[in-house]
Amino acid sequence: MEEFTFSIDGKKVSGRPGQTIMEAADEAGIYIPRLCSHKKTGPHGSCRICMVIVNGRPQAACIQPAAKGINVENNTEFLLEIRRALFDMLFIEGNHYCMFCEKSGECELQALGYRLGVLASQFPFIYPKRDVDASHRNVFIEHNRCILCARCVHASKDIDKKEVFGFVNRGRHKKLAVNKRDGAAGTNLDRHDMAVRVCPVGTLMPKHAGYRVPIGRRVYDKLVIGHEIESSAKAEKQGENE
Ligand code: SF4
Ligand code: FES
Repeated sequence: MEEFTFSIDGKKVSGRPGQTIMEAADEAGIYIPRLCSHKKTGPHGSCRICMVIVNGRPQAACIQPAAKGINVENNTEFLLEIRRALFDMLFIEGNHYCMFCEKSGECELQALGYRLGVLASQFPFIYPKRDVDASHRNVFIEHNRCILCARCVHASKDIDKKEVFGFVNRGRHKKLAVNKRDGAAGTNLDRHDMAVRVCPVGTLMPKHAGYRVPIGRRVYDKLVIGHEIESSAKAEKQGENE
């Protein structure tokens, strides 16, 4: 298929028909922040952290197709402020206590907060009352940390072929649910399921594996989120060719 070019923050980027702006940016080594989108499960278009400005209009980069000649703004002060606000809304509507969380250092929400330079919340905390489902032999479901990204919903359905997860209720009461009345214990969820592995936060956590990698030595303790995209081989190659 014929490639075309467009620009992201003034840099010339290649795209192919059918690619989203995020996919083309990834290949070019340009990181666009994301939370609901994941390479294994595809985009969900719900968190809006990936918002970019395309020819002057806001669009979600994970679902917006790349197109010839478009002008995309990604790394600007304006978008940084918007992403900080979106991040903050996700953070304050759950109960995230990073210092007690087993996912600390591997949590995409926490890592994104660091990357965006969020030092303190700009909105008041809601402190919702949410429960923990520890009924399953091998997997915890810690609802306090869920950001409703739907990665697990898609992974369970499309990759694990189980449909363990879905959402119930609406608005502020929207909640992750499993497909059995008596909780996770009644499901065929497995600790190795893709649904568990793609959770960006500490909601779906395998049991009996706590702190195998000590705090301080985890991926985002050492590297900024998005490093794997920005340091990709193709990005380096493209740089050499410029
Ligand atoms: S449990 Fe994890 S993957 Fe599933 S919706 Fe919540 S945050 Fe997303
Ligand atoms: S990553 Fe695009 S909307 Fe969530």
